[in-house]
Amino acid sequence: MAKEIATFIVNGQGYEVIVEPHMLLIDVLRDSIGLVGTKYGCGAGDCGACTVLLEGKPVFACLTLAVTARDRSLTTIEGLADGAGLHPIQQAFVDAGAVQCGFCTPGMVLTTKALLDENPEPTRGEIKAFLAGNLCRCTGYVKIVEAVESAAGILRNGGAR
Ligand code: FES
Ligand code: FES
Repeated sequence: MAKEIATFIVNGQGYEVIVEPHMLLIDVLRDSIGLVGTKYGCGAGDCGACTVLLEGKPVFACLTLAVTARDRSLTTIEGLADGAGLHPIQQAFVDAGAVQCGFCTPGMVLTTKALLDENPEPTRGEIKAFLAGNLCRCTGYVKIVEAVESAAGILRNGGAR
């Protein structure tokens, strides 16, 4: 099938990209647009490193055909921080020691954002269930769950620390 020009709305900004029907969203984000914060891990839907938000919901960019995301709102990790300051979720991850090698962190943070947007006060069990698709080889998950709980509290408090 023919190549076509598609518009992707990433972090509130429109990008026109030449796409082919088989192209994956992660390749458009990383290679065509140059947003390399989205990580490529397993390429098979097993690790969650490639998680981005599509209309606010987490999706695996390694399994998502790029054309299905055209003209729809996408959020990558680059879109979370406000200027030079970290987003409260990012800061909570840093403060809790939930970032070690950092490879899983963009996906973890974006999945956490989706969770807290729909459930501002999740239980520990709800946090673990929501993050079950995001793997971390470094932290043992305890600090990640603590970071999410901390971020939830900060956001319920209007983002103030
Ligand atoms: S790289 Fe997409 S789920 Fe692992
Ligand atoms: S911090 Fe290394 S994989 Fe999670």
